[in-house]
Amino acid sequence: TRGFTVAIDGPAASGKGTISRAVAARFGFAHLDTGLLYRAVGAKVLEGMDPVAAARALRPGDLDGDALRTPAIAQEASKVAALPEVRAALKDFQRSFAARSGGAVLDGRDIGTVICPDAQVKLFVIADAVVRARRRFAELSEKGIETTFEEVLADVQARDARDMGRADAPLRPAVDAVTLDTSDMDIEDAVAAAVALIEAKR
Ligand code: C5P
Repeated sequence: TRGFTVAIDGPAASGKGTISRAVAARFGFAHLDTGLLYRAVGAKVLEGMDPVAAARALRPGDLDGDALRTPAIAQEASKVAALPEVRAALKDFQRSFAARSGGAVLDGRDIGTVICPDAQVKLFVIADAVVRARRRFAELSEKGIETTFEEVLADVQARDARDMGRADAPLRPAVDAVTLDTSDMDIEDAVAAAVALIEAKR
């Protein structure tokens, strides 16, 4: 499986993170949640740093998933993600990760279109915005982050619009991506669909 890459893209809370972790564990592939890169830059910007300088100075040690998963950081992440210089600064790290031997799963918004256009498997995971907001609200509540369903829905919709509307690497399926709508699926079925797709290409 040298250089085998699985690209999983989709909007916030579509289920792509859960599917990515599950297939990485299943096949022994390394996993990179590329949203964490943009979140780490967003967090530095909220601390007063310049976004391009923050992206250029980013280190793998800055990618603390727990601390970075707040709605405020998510919003700032989607703003810095519209800056071409920020995206360019994060490209090499993602491409090197994808090229590691033993296989890699990368999830994000532009993996199949820009970062890994030659990925052997491309999945575009979608779900209805209300369903996604319900999932994200449950996750945040469980972590003790105080918010409302309405706030989470507004956050998801604002990020969708920004991510789909930007000029550089907008959120959209690659022409050769398989779309998986998880609105009415439980997680086991969504993972099974992804596993079947990877097994067919391995
Ligand atoms: O996936 P996650 O919700 O953590 O991503 C946070 C933000 O980072 C997204 O809303 C998007 O603007 C940006 N992002 C991106 N390209 C990626 C991954 C994330 O622009 N590959």
